[in-house]
Formats: sequence, C-alpha cells, structure tokens
Amino acid sequence: MTTLAIVSALLDEQKGLLDQLQHPTKRERAGRTFWCGQWAGHEVVLVLSKVGKVAAASTTATLIEAFGVERVLFTGVAGGIGDGVKVGDVVVADAFIQHDMDSGPLFPRFEIPLYGRATLDCDAALSALLLEAVHAGLAGVGDHFHRDSLLAYAAVHSGLIASGDQFVCDPLTVHKIRTDLQSAGHQALAVEMEGAAVAQVCFDYGIPFAAMRTISDRADADAHMDFSAFVQQVASPYALAVVSQFMQSLPKR
Ligand code: ADE
Repeated sequence: MTTLAIVSALLDEQKGLLDQLQHPTKRERAGRTFWCGQWAGHEVVLVLSKVGKVAAASTTATLIEAFGVERVLFTGVAGGIGDGVKVGDVVVADAFIQHDMDSGPLFPRFEIPLYGRATLDCDAALSALLLEAVHAGLAGVGDHFHRDSLLAYAAVHSGLIASGDQFVCDPLTVHKIRTDLQSAGHQALAVEMEGAAVAQVCFDYGIPFAAMRTISDRADADAHMDFSAFVQQVASPYALAVVSQFMQSLPKR
C-alpha cells in the first residue's frame, strides 16, 4: 500500500497527530525522528521538517529514499501577506515559489535555475481533498474558537505560498516581497520557510504533494508574539481536525 508522509514544521502540531498513529514505531535517521504506523487504514510516516528550505528538502528526500513514501502532506503555520488573509485563516497551497530565489542575471528573478520555472504546482487531486478536509475540519473546531472570541471565523484560501529562509516580521519586507513577486506576475497569500523546498523534491521524484498553513501572524512586528500559544491553542487543533478528515477521505492505493 502507498505510504503517506505527514510532515509538520512544529513539535506541538505534530504531538496531536502522533496520538492518532496506530502501532507507532520510531526510527532515527539523518538527525530526525520518523514515526511509522497506520492511520485510518493507511500506512503513514510522521516527521518534523525542521526549519528552513535545506532542512525541509533533506527531510523530504529521506522520506522518499529511506521510507518509500509516495504521497506527501505538509501542515504548518505561515505569515499572511495577501489582502484579506488574517490570523486564524487557513491557506491550502496550489503552488509554491521561493521569494528569496534570485540567480540574476543568469536566470529571470524567482526562476529555479535549470528547472525553467519559478513556481511548482501542488497535486490537484490531493489539494482538492485537503481543501475539503479543511472546510469539514474547521466546521468542527471553528465554532469553539469563535464562541470563545479567540478568533473571527476562519476563512479558507487557496493559492500561491512563498517560501524563503527568513522569518518575515516587518511591513517593509512584506511590501518588498509582495511588489517583487507582483512585478514577476505572482501573487502570494502567505510566507513560510519550507514548502517550496518540499515541493521541489516532490517534483523531482514525481510525488504528489499538498500543503496547508494556518495563518499565525501578518508577518509584521507582532509576528513573534504569542507564537507558541497560537500554535498550541489554534494551529495544532486545526491541524488535527483537518488531517483526521483528510485521512478518512484519502483513497487507498
Ligand atoms: N511562519 C509563520 N509565520 C511566519 C513568518 N512571518 N515568516 C516566515 N515564516 C513564518
């Protein structure tokens, strides 16, 4: 049976997912802990990507080469930079770009050298399934947050996510990332630090990839505040609710 990797960026987020794993076994490799087991009748491997594009690429290559995974799902948090993308919303990626990729003058801005492209698409079928799972999952947990006035109702977005080796936390940087991307014809909803790397390794191996990010901040001066509280109280329950739905609806192959 096809093995699915569930890659998380943060330990708190992974903890809730790990509790769902049946017959978990632990394997250490390349400085990472891989948890293998079953979830809703699927073979799964859970792992933390670590932070940044190189770490995420290394994790993904290990998942594929050493654990034989054939589908990859990523869950994490991101800074919202798109208009109307607010804290507590969820973005399902339809493609990734590296906002810090610049090999000019040899290649056009943002183009991945020797790939002839700047963006890498997520798998359409897996992403559609994930989008449905986000809507269904949030319908369950969203009420709780709204009732407690923690958050306005979460909106769900689908679109481009920009990755870079930088925690973005000031409006000038956001403005530059947005305008640079726009001048090359790209509009990103959110920034984070791993997705484009996972997408590139999955592209190299021809492996379907889907990703969701809960918006933890607006990539401004408040971006670091209450980050761990947000992850514990909001992003982790969201991830658990969504991934649980996703696992129920994922076709067995
Ligand atoms: N992940 C969550 N928030 C982020 C931000 N502001 N920049 C980069 N990665 C993030």
